[in-house]
Amino acid sequence: MVLAVTKPRAHRLLPGTAALLVLLVAAALGGGDSGEDSARIVIRSTGVLSSLLFVLAWAAAPLAHLSGKRWARSLLASRRRVGLGLAMSHGVHLLALLTLARLVELGVDPLTLVAGSGGFVVIALMAATSSDAAVAALGRERWLLLHRTGMPYLWVVFTFTWAGGAAHSPVAAVGTAVMLALAALRIYARLRARRASSSGCATVGAGETWK
Ligand code: HEM
Repeated sequence: MVLAVTKPRAHRLLPGTAALLVLLVAAALGGGDSGEDSARIVIRSTGVLSSLLFVLAWAAAPLAHLSGKRWARSLLASRRRVGLGLAMSHGVHLLALLTLARLVELGVDPLTLVAGSGGFVVIALMAATSSDAAVAALGRERWLLLHRTGMPYLWVVFTFTWAGGAAHSPVAAVGTAVMLALAALRIYARLRARRASSSGCATVGAGETWK
């Protein structure tokens, strides 16, 4: 099966994400019992929103290649916008974290601090190189390397963040299960694509990359 190239249509995704983030911060400021409480609400809700956008961005290619459905191809074509939405949401996660750190001792262990900060760097690099001009300037191979290592790295950070709270929080348990299901989907789709390419059946259309 060769995938037809679908034009990206999610024009409202970025303004929609920005509006949702503004609402979320406003609700946290209005509803929190204290500055600390409001910051924690923003951190947790951007954690959920970023997870959702990350799952959509990383599931887009396998879903499009496995199902070939129009909605999945549309999601794949809009993946850049989804990734930028994730960067926006995680920018707010970072701002809320910095606010919280000014109010209270964060008490984050060094491994989480290093791995989490690395995640912010990866998201910033991927967002900064998400234009055609940046891909051309960086060179396609280096761009692919960044995205092919960046996304699995982020998967590890998201999965360990959720798994850390899974024993006490149903939301964290669901987050962990979703991240594991995402990895299973990627592995399954990759095995299928490998089998199809060894039998001479192309599953990736012109201009598409598997990442
Ligand atoms: C790309 C990197 C990061 C990702 C993907 C990420 C992801 C998440 C997610 C999904 C949550 C929600 C968890 C839940 O509600 O149970 C969360 C919460 C949190 N994150 Fe991040 N995070 C990152 C970086 C960091 C860093 C660097 C720090 C600390 C310096 C941090 C500190 C926190 C804290 C303290 C919470 C919980 C707030 C609370 O429950 O009161 N995160 N993060």
